[in-house]
Amino acid sequence: MNTLKEVPVCELNLYRGKTADDVLSGDGALLLPKGSSVPTILTAIPGIQDTLLTWKIESLPLLIDYEISEEEFEAVVRTVEPKTALLDPALAGRAIHQVEEVYQRIAENNPSREGIETLSREAKNLTAEVLRTPQILLCLGKVRDADEYTYVHSLNVALLSGYLANILHPGDRELVEAMTFGGLLHDLGKARVSQDVLNKPGRLTPDEFEKMKAHSIQGMITALSSGVEDRRILSIIRNHHERWSGEGYPDGLGENRISLHARIAAVADVFDALTARRVYKDPMRSREAVTMIIESSGKSFDPAIVRALLVSVGLFPPGTMVELSDGGVGVVTGARSTDIYLPQVLLTTDSLGRRAEGNTIIDLALQRGLFIRRTLDDMGKGVRYELAKV
Ligand SMILES: [Fe+2]
Repeated sequence: MNTLKEVPVCELNLYRGKTADDVLSGDGALLLPKGSSVPTILTAIPGIQDTLLTWKIESLPLLIDYEISEEEFEAVVRTVEPKTALLDPALAGRAIHQVEEVYQRIAENNPSREGIETLSREAKNLTAEVLRTPQILLCLGKVRDADEYTYVHSLNVALLSGYLANILHPGDRELVEAMTFGGLLHDLGKARVSQDVLNKPGRLTPDEFEKMKAHSIQGMITALSSGVEDRRILSIIRNHHERWSGEGYPDGLGENRISLHARIAAVADVFDALTARRVYKDPMRSREAVTMIIESSGKSFDPAIVRALLVSVGLFPPGTMVELSDGGVGVVTGARSTDIYLPQVLLTTDSLGRRAEGNTIIDLALQRGLFIRRTLDDMGKGVRYELAKV
């Protein structure tokens, strides 16, 4: 999102934006073409401000750019909350890699008990991270290519499920651990579904849909034969596609007949699927996904779990770009308060349209009279984790 603003040449260094028009000297020579980026101009042509002033050009029309890059956002979050905000990337990369190994062995008809035991240890490590992070959305993985989707999605469902469980039953570490492990394994049955069906754009044929649906029971059978006996984990694998209304599969269970574990995993699964980029769709913005899930509360999803999602990610999830009531613009980084309308915002542009300096995070809950006027865009969720070489 851009705004046009006339900026004094001597203050160019305070702004982030592009020239809105060609800038010509008094004798008609092109000094700066339209669309030149201000930070680039100042670095590439150190004397440009003097040159402009020599030609009596004292201000320039700029298209002010409010956005910051994903990399900048991530770097700032790491600086501001180095210990708490993000998941250990090595741990995340290892978990994704381990899920991939387990899937490949199943696809080759050679399931590995050790692989699943290793995953259970990774789940314990992830649980510790889930319990200490204040904002799970900043920890979720981003999918780089289609082949990787199921593995990153498994990590994300694990993290989100564990996080929601901890909101519903604070401090119940064993529950969080079961949800995290169950999340890693929830789509195990997809190891035997072909990539063509998994990545198919558009509607599945009835036959393809039956094959897809079979992943829930198939996954449970594979888990059982690989030594998984915990009924909570098995119910996540078998029943994460059940719906509160009873219209899900494979058993058509409704409401509390679906285990708490499967009900939590269902919300985590859908939230991550909606906000992921797939070969056939762009990612949905986090706040739109939250809204869509709220609309399905009491129909598809357990209302108590939808409330937990709303409390944990807020109405303005981390990564949402917002305009504040004083005209400043920033990116939501999280919420310390329980007020879902007043999160913390990393200021990127101040109320005068200037680039904000110094990684200023404003806690709206502590600022009288300052509130979010509207949302602008979404940085998207997640971090690109490098797969660990094992
Ligand atoms: Fe599934």
